[in-house]
Parts: sequence; structure tokens; C-alpha cells
Amino acid sequence: MVKNVLSQRICIKVFALGMMISMPLFAGGEDASNATCDLERGKKIFQKCAICHSFDSGAEHLAGPNLYQIMGRAVGKVEGFKFSRKLRKSEDTWTQERLDAFLESPLEYYPGIRMAFAGLKKSEDRSDLICYLSSP
Ligand code: HEC
Repeated sequence: MVKNVLSQRICIKVFALGMMISMPLFAGGEDASNATCDLERGKKIFQKCAICHSFDSGAEHLAGPNLYQIMGRAVGKVEGFKFSRKLRKSEDTWTQERLDAFLESPLEYYPGIRMAFAGLKKSEDRSDLICYLSSP
């Protein structure tokens, strides 16, 4: 069914809406998001990032910048982190779509950056991780 094909997109939209009206993300039991966005799984996948990225308010930058509230933020502008020229000069904003494309292959998306990470090839891994990164 079309619903299944679109379920990931719907999940992302449900998240964006949830963020906008600042409601607890899973409290309402939205079918689409519960069925396709696994926050707990996303948290586990984040372990791949955690050697280089913190994800807490006020946490120190590691080899990479703190990713706390990354969604909606300007690319390469987190205070106190020295980004490569490529990210520093970027005028992009982090959206779910951009993060999805970036995480599939970071160095193809922003050639020349210093993030030594090959990427997440499975779209399910990326969408679960993005669920986690979108959480408060
Ligand atoms: C080996 C260390 C390393 C790993 C692993 C890593 N990153 Fe990074 N990441 C970096 C570095 C370094 C930068 C800054 C790159 C630059 O300035 O060129 C960065 C930048 C980023 C940015 C841009 C931040 C901003 O404020 O614009 C995002 C988003 C990001 N990483 C997400 C992730 C995610 C999600 C993962 C796990 C799937 C991950 N990274 C894995 C080192 C890493």
C-alpha cells in the first residue's frame, strides 16, 4: 500500500509537526511515528557517533561538535567548535531531509570536511537515528 511506502516520510513529517507544537514526541501514540521511528534503536545507533559527538545540553565538544538540538540549527556554527572551512562557510540549515542525505555519505555531501565517518547505508538506520537526534 502507498501508506507503507510513504511511512518514513510521514514519520519525518509527524516529527516536524511534533517539534513545532513542542509536544512530547511519542506521548500521543501517533500510529505512523510509533510504527516506523524507533527512538530506542536510534539511541543505540548513536553509539557510532558518540566517540566523536556529545548530545547533551552544555556538554563539551569532542572530536566533533555537540549535537544537542542539532535540528533546525545552521550548519557549522556551533559556538566553541572549530569547523572546517566547508562547514563554517555553509549557509545551510539542518533539517531531517538534509541530515538523512548527509549521514548516508558525509564526505560526498560536504566534500573536504573532517568527519571521518563512512556513513550509514541503511535508510532505516538513518531514520531511527534522526528520530533520536530530533528528540529533546
Ligand atoms: C571520527 C569522529 C566522528 C564520527 C564517528 C562522527 N562524526 Fe560527525 N563530525 C565529526 C567532526 C570532526 C565534525 C566537524 C567536521 C568539520 O568541521 O569539517 C562533524 C560534524 C558533524 C555534523 C555537523 C554539525 C554542525 O553543527 O553543523 C553533524 C550533524 C554530524 N557530525 C553528525 C554525526 C552523526 C549523526 C554521526 C554518527 C552516525 C557522526 N557525526 C559520526 C566527527 C565525527
